[in-house]
Amino acid sequence: MTPLRCAFVVWIGWLRHFDAAAAWTSRTAWSPGFRSSRDVATGCAAAPADAKSDAVAAVTGVTLKVALDANGAAADRAANESLRFTCGEALDMVHRLRCCSDAVLVGRGTVQADNPSLTVRRTPCDRQPLRVVLDPRLELLRQKTDQGARFALLEDGLTTVVYHTVPDLDEDSLNLLETITVVYVPPTKPSGDNVPHGDYLSAATLTRDLRDRFGVNHLMVEGGPLTARQFLYEHQVDRVILVHASLCFRQPLESGLTEKVLVDAGLEKLGTEPCGVDQIEYWSRPELPWPTTELSKWP
Ligand SMILES: NC(=O)c1ccc[n+]([C@@H]2O[C@H](COP(=O)([O-])OP(=O)(O)OC[C@H]3O[C@@H](n4cnc5c(N)ncnc54)[C@H](OP(=O)(O)O)[C@@H]3O)[C@@H](O)[C@H]2O)c1
Repeated sequence: MTPLRCAFVVWIGWLRHFDAAAAWTSRTAWSPGFRSSRDVATGCAAAPADAKSDAVAAVTGVTLKVALDANGAAADRAANESLRFTCGEALDMVHRLRCCSDAVLVGRGTVQADNPSLTVRRTPCDRQPLRVVLDPRLELLRQKTDQGARFALLEDGLTTVVYHTVPDLDEDSLNLLETITVVYVPPTKPSGDNVPHGDYLSAATLTRDLRDRFGVNHLMVEGGPLTARQFLYEHQVDRVILVHASLCFRQPLESGLTEKVLVDAGLEKLGTEPCGVDQIEYWSRPELPWPTTELSKWP
């Protein structure tokens, strides 16, 4: 991509960001319990509940979602603040995916960089997914944002689970809200390269613990790249949704999510479909049917 084209798509990306930010309005409160068929507002076509041919099969397992720039990077190190760089339709899709997930998981790096809420806001949803953070040394619980507050998902009153490897933890000293649960998991030996520097939490152990302890049957892994790669290396991912935006970052943070990495993780590419001005690549474990007949109908 030429520098001129790059500059143009970055400018378009900024315009899209403001458009998307303006659309982020309603918040849905946590209300545990049975979730009915989703009522999808706008965006990438989602399966209407009453259309037999487009019926959504029950979704279980692990779905990884990552957004990439034109060169496959996951974030721009040059950005002063975290910006959404995918189109409104792709953001709607992400919120629908969160809505049909029992839990949404990220690594410590994503919370530190983006201070995300990981809630469903862009589509009606009758419960919020559990938020799950991998923070082996529990650094996030002791840190504050630049504004001096705790990270959003630690103080918004919705449920968050933080997995760590700190033995003999004095939980009282952390002064946590009742909505925060910290879970100790013994560290294990990491697989693959580019692994976290500190203690390693096995993705297989986490997936099992989330299912057994919290009833998580469908887990959405939302990043960042390091967390995503660990789940892939351990063959814990059942399907992948890659959102390709056309802008290019000035100082790209490589995702490392190449086709080879996905194939080595036991996944096969099902196809690519447009979503607004972005493109979505769909991958799945070969033996698993996609939840809908048409790829773009789910999520
Ligand atoms: N484009 C996208 O879709 C997307 C999505 C999310 C985030 N991002 C971007 O990605 C960047 C952050 O990247 P990142 O790779 O550092 O984020 P990350 O994967 O969210 O966090 C990495 C950290 O999480 C902990 N961690 C993750 N997996 C672990 C495991 N299996 N065992 C133990 N600890 C584990 C480690 O913490 P310790 O360092 O404490 O060991 C590790 O350094 C940000 O700029 C963010 O904006 C992009």
